[in-house]
Amino acid sequence: MTTIDATTAPGRPGGTDTTPVLQARGLVKTYGRVVGLDGVDLELHRGEVLAIIGDNGAGKSTLIKCLTGAEIPDQGEILLDGKPVHFKRPQDARTAGIETVYQTLAVAPSLDVAANLFLGREVRRKGPLGSVLRITDRAGMRERARQELRELGISTLQDVTVPVENLSGGQRQAVAVARAAAFGSKVVVLDEPTAALGVRESGQVLELVRTLRDRGVPVIIISHNMPHVFDIADRIHVQRLGRRAATITPKSHTMTEAVAIMTGAAEA
Ligand SMILES: Nc1ncnc2c1ncn2[C@@H]1O[C@H](COP(=O)(O)OP(=O)(O)OP(=O)(O)O)[C@@H](O)[C@H]1O
Ligand SMILES: [Mg+2]
Repeated sequence: MTTIDATTAPGRPGGTDTTPVLQARGLVKTYGRVVGLDGVDLELHRGEVLAIIGDNGAGKSTLIKCLTGAEIPDQGEILLDGKPVHFKRPQDARTAGIETVYQTLAVAPSLDVAANLFLGREVRRKGPLGSVLRITDRAGMRERARQELRELGISTLQDVTVPVENLSGGQRQAVAVARAAAFGSKVVVLDEPTAALGVRESGQVLELVRTLRDRGVPVIIISHNMPHVFDIADRIHVQRLGRRAATITPKSHTMTEAVAIMTGAAEA
């Protein structure tokens, strides 16, 4: 695992080295009579990629929706850098430094790559053109977009003026991940980023996740793809029937053992 100096890593104010960056305790979320989460604990530490695995309906998406303000838990608490947070909407989590790429990918297809990267935080022109007329600084955003993509090692997206609808699935995912990565986030959360992607595109997204971690941003990644999980994760949170069944690592368990815990065939 890459170790990162928490005192100098970017975007990491507050908390000590051992305080989880993001922590959940006893999260409960019900939908009518359906129990989505049944008292879940989770810890995301500095400098790590935490994978969440589990069968369909195990509560993975619900868990990250609660962590990222898309759902409000019925019970339990969420701590960011050791301090309780109460997100009412995704923008609250975003403002606090948690960037999310949801399972249903949210990019604006008709906008170009640069505009997608700056969606919701467009940069205005300097002076009255920006402050009064609200004219956006397109050239500035394009330059910054190019720079971000370069820094993230995304080489397939050199032209930031291409509409996202003309990109491949993997390139679109790369735009969504780059957007999450680009703004000094504390935490990046990805729900099934490689599910619809080919081998090469998946490889690029996984590489991006590594780059993020090595830049000091811990990542939570949900995936059903065991080879991807075992390739990328420092630790693996196994979700089963709305609860955390175990936390394992690629060193402590084999893929077969992980699947056995996931399905309830084995205890952790
Ligand atoms: N909006 C909702 N309304 C009603 N039930 C819901 C809602 N969202 C989730 N659930 C239920 O909560 C449980 C957990 O769902 P969730 O989407 O978190 O599972 P998941 O682990 O992400 O599954 P998958 O691997 O299929 O994405 C399921 O039983 C699901 O039917
Ligand atoms: Mg899901």
